[in-house]
Amino acid sequence: MTATGSAELRDVYEHQYSAEGADAERYGAWRALCAEGKADHVAALAAALADRPRTLVEVGCGDGGLLEALAARRLADSLHGFDISERAVQIARGRPAIERVERFDGASLPAADGAYDLGVLSHVLEHVSDPMPLLRETARVCRAVVVEVPLEDNRSASRPAAQRGREAIGHLHRFSRADVHRLTCGAGLQVIGELADPLPLRVHRFWAGGPAARMKASGKAALRRALFTVAPAEAERAFTVHYAALLVPRP
Ligand SMILES: C[S@@+](CC[C@H](N)C(=O)[O-])C[C@H]1O[C@@H](n2cnc3c(N)ncnc32)[C@H](O)[C@@H]1O
Repeated sequence: MTATGSAELRDVYEHQYSAEGADAERYGAWRALCAEGKADHVAALAAALADRPRTLVEVGCGDGGLLEALAARRLADSLHGFDISERAVQIARGRPAIERVERFDGASLPAADGAYDLGVLSHVLEHVSDPMPLLRETARVCRAVVVEVPLEDNRSASRPAAQRGREAIGHLHRFSRADVHRLTCGAGLQVIGELADPLPLRVHRFWAGGPAARMKASGKAALRRALFTVAPAEAERAFTVHYAALLVPRP
């Protein structure tokens, strides 16, 4: 499925958050697992800020799993979330650690300039047809922003099967690190910290069904980690890593 219109895209996300029964449990477990790594990235980058953030907002917070993982790390005192999906907002509202969750139109945040110490845009920009305005809008309401995206401008992600997989989950862009730097600059921001992650073994093995698939996933994870350790730039050209950056306004 390829969805590019905003109503169609909203349907994609409503569908993703509306699984039932065993599917809902499995997808929930997957999102919770991924949230741990994402929260570690935000916490590692936020440590470079002069002051611990008191207020934090996640734009495109989905089911609130990342906000909950950030709350568990006591990253901020007050956590808010905004998303375009009604179903995601409903699920996120069920998490007591999150103070406020609102649906918004995907363009204008219902918040004042500089309302938050830290904003998080995690795995959202690759889903948005024109990511620059959303990054600018997030930067309008936040004094600093952590952006995380998968870097998919690589050989492995160029395969037709990978392309189909990306379309099915609503990715509209295949970013490189340079693309994110260009977006940052265009939004009047600068990168003051960055990291990349080839993802841990448990993430690579999550969807592997059966011993053979698990063994294959373990081998793939080990190879990727090894290449990433010795030649990180080459690893980025070969396969997808998750890239996170801490952005602040350019002086
Ligand atoms: C892959 S999920 C990421 C959820 C969460 N941020 C995380 O990292 O786990 C992408 C989310 O972006 C939301 N989204 C898509 N377009 C958006 C937009 N223009 N503004 C805000 N959120 C958007 C979707 O509804 C979905 O919840």
